[in-house]
Amino acid sequence: MSELVLVEDADGVRTIRFNRPDKKNALTRAMYTAAAEALESGEAGASIRVFIIAGAGGVFTAGNDLGDFMTAPPSIGTGEMPPVEHFMQALLHCKKPVIAAVDGLAIGIGVTMLMHCDLAYASSRASFKTPFVDLALAPEYGSSQMMPRMFGHVVAADLLLLGSVWDAAKAASHGLITDVADDVEAMARSAALNLAAKAPGALRAAKELMRRPDEAINDRIGLEGGMFAELLRSPEFTEAATAFMERRKPDFSKFG
Ligand code: COA
Repeated sequence: MSELVLVEDADGVRTIRFNRPDKKNALTRAMYTAAAEALESGEAGASIRVFIIAGAGGVFTAGNDLGDFMTAPPSIGTGEMPPVEHFMQALLHCKKPVIAAVDGLAIGIGVTMLMHCDLAYASSRASFKTPFVDLALAPEYGSSQMMPRMFGHVVAADLLLLGSVWDAAKAASHGLITDVADDVEAMARSAALNLAAKAPGALRAAKELMRRPDEAINDRIGLEGGMFAELLRSPEFTEAATAFMERRKPDFSKFG
């Protein structure tokens, strides 16, 4: 049996690819575990700077394996940490940028995970669907809060209550994805290489700030100010400023 999750490292970018195309890349417990471990090990070292999550065979993922749901239903949020939660927590806590490259179908958790990625690109043949209610289930991993905030309630209800299928253009128009491309993998890779060349500490700081829960604006301004001041004293900033003065590209490769 071929590997159900392929992990490929190149140029500081780790691509985690769901590889079960005969089952539309439906995610099994073993696949969640493999993907979680790929995120965690990449997060731990300095060599990986950016992650791409993609699917093989012209499909992103048809969501959770429905057979697994029947035979081994996960007890999410009970502290048991089932594989699906292991993966989603690894994604939620990832300090490095994560980019989704959606080609073809993204269903259920395949849509939910996009909201926890930093950038999400889709091919023009991509489609998005969250049929939780159709399956007599409820939304997951914050989507019932994030989608109404992102799209407004009446638009979120189109996905979460009606279970409508969105095409890539509609997903982009509502801000579920960043952009649509003919070659989604090339677009994701180009963004990944762009991010991989940036100052890693500054990227971590920006991501951390963007992912924080809402707070009083003055509290946020104070927090940003503290990080800004800290980064002004960082070797990364010295390199950025020196490169500007010397009219060259900054080289952040030695920073982790
Ligand atoms: N879990 C388990 N198996 C799945 C699956 C899933 N989520 N999605 C697809 N598969 C399997 C099918 O059972 C089929 O297996 P088989 O060839 O052994 O019969 C194979 O993948 C191909 O799927 P099929 O339905 O024949 O392809 P299709 O192109 O006609 O339709 C989908 C593709 C994805 C639209 C359809 O399979 C589907 O609706 N899947 C369920 C999606 C879902 O509800 N996900 C859970 C969200 S919480």
